[in-house]
Amino acid sequence: MTQNNTADFNSNALMDTTARNKEAVSSELCESGNRLLTVRDLTVSFSTDDGTFKAADRVSFHVEKGENVGLVGESGCGKSVTALSIPRLIPSPPGNIESGEIWFDGNDIMAMASEQLQDIRGRAISMIFQEPLSALSPLHRIGRQMLEALLLHQDMPKKEAWRFAEQWLSKVGIPDATDRMFAYPFQLSGGMQQRVMIAMALMLEPNLIIADEPTTALDVTTQAQVFELIKAMKKKHTSMLLITHDMGVVWEMCERILVMYASQIVESGSREDIFSNPKHPYTIGLLEAIPKLTGGRTELKDIPGQVPSPFDYPKGCHFEKRCAFSMEKCITEPPPFYECGNGHRAACFLLADSSG
Ligand SMILES: Nc1ncnc2c1ncn2[C@@H]1O[C@H](COP(=O)(O)OP(=O)(O)O)[C@@H](O)[C@H]1O
Ligand code: SF4
Ligand SMILES: [Mg+2]
Repeated sequence: MTQNNTADFNSNALMDTTARNKEAVSSELCESGNRLLTVRDLTVSFSTDDGTFKAADRVSFHVEKGENVGLVGESGCGKSVTALSIPRLIPSPPGNIESGEIWFDGNDIMAMASEQLQDIRGRAISMIFQEPLSALSPLHRIGRQMLEALLLHQDMPKKEAWRFAEQWLSKVGIPDATDRMFAYPFQLSGGMQQRVMIAMALMLEPNLIIADEPTTALDVTTQAQVFELIKAMKKKHTSMLLITHDMGVVWEMCERILVMYASQIVESGSREDIFSNPKHPYTIGLLEAIPKLTGGRTELKDIPGQVPSPFDYPKGCHFEKRCAFSMEKCITEPPPFYECGNGHRAACFLLADSSG
């Protein structure tokens, strides 16, 4: 194993981005030819009446074209903040992307003007949220909302766009699509609203879908249907970042997994490595909390203790207060990442013993 403190790609080549030509950096980031998204050292803070805290702390990861990546962790760990940062949707104030790089398909998101961001949101990056009514306006009929999204991003005659939207409602399994185009969101069940949101997210054929706990509010049967739908409707070249606290879901949906704890990514690797050879005590805790690893989407049970308040993150390892293996230096030093092979890496001092 080798130690690596920062990013999950060639960090040496990117050491001093400010001093380098951004275009050169961009082409390096896309060197593999298959890289869609690179997030590097992303730090997001919030300023509240009680003070300022970091909700995402030096978060680094990537998503390949066509890849499904799962971001897992307990509530409050910074998953949504990380996801919202990608299309720069962090409300500011109180939020602030303090530092970091976000490269999407060779483009520097942090350097984009608001019109460019507007264009990328929806067309190239679509979001599916837990709560459909956060994406659908309660005041407008579904057809009109879909039409507006289409006309904003695609050069299409109105009539054709209307028909296209109607076809998508049918595709996502909404009966009587012709009539439903005239319905208001509140006239549909939660599962149907979720289907509308999926149709809106997928109809523009985005390069990246960010699905943030997309089924948490739904019953188990509808959850399964929604995931089947996303799988079936998603084009092969479309990537997905799926945020969930449910390890069963990432097992079924994702090829690679990022584990987040208290504002930091603590482990990442292939689905198989994370499930069969987890390295970080937090990941092990998440997996042990599942009664069965396969065959069913089971809610995470609590790991003993609680995620600390972001105002009280420990100086060293953020998991230190809940970790059965905590050592002296875990209290004072943040653990670096250790490479475990095959792109599998974890930030825990326990791995230092096996490093070279
Ligand atoms: N708009 C906001 N204002 C203040 N704090 C926020 C805001 N959004 C998120 N946070 C805080 O940031 C931390 C991470 O939140 P979040 O990313 O939503 O966690 P997760 O999605 O993992 O449950 C939490 O402590 C949360 O309270
Ligand atoms: S670095 Fe220390 S406290 Fe943190 S997970 Fe590893 S052993 Fe536990
Ligand atoms: Mg969240």
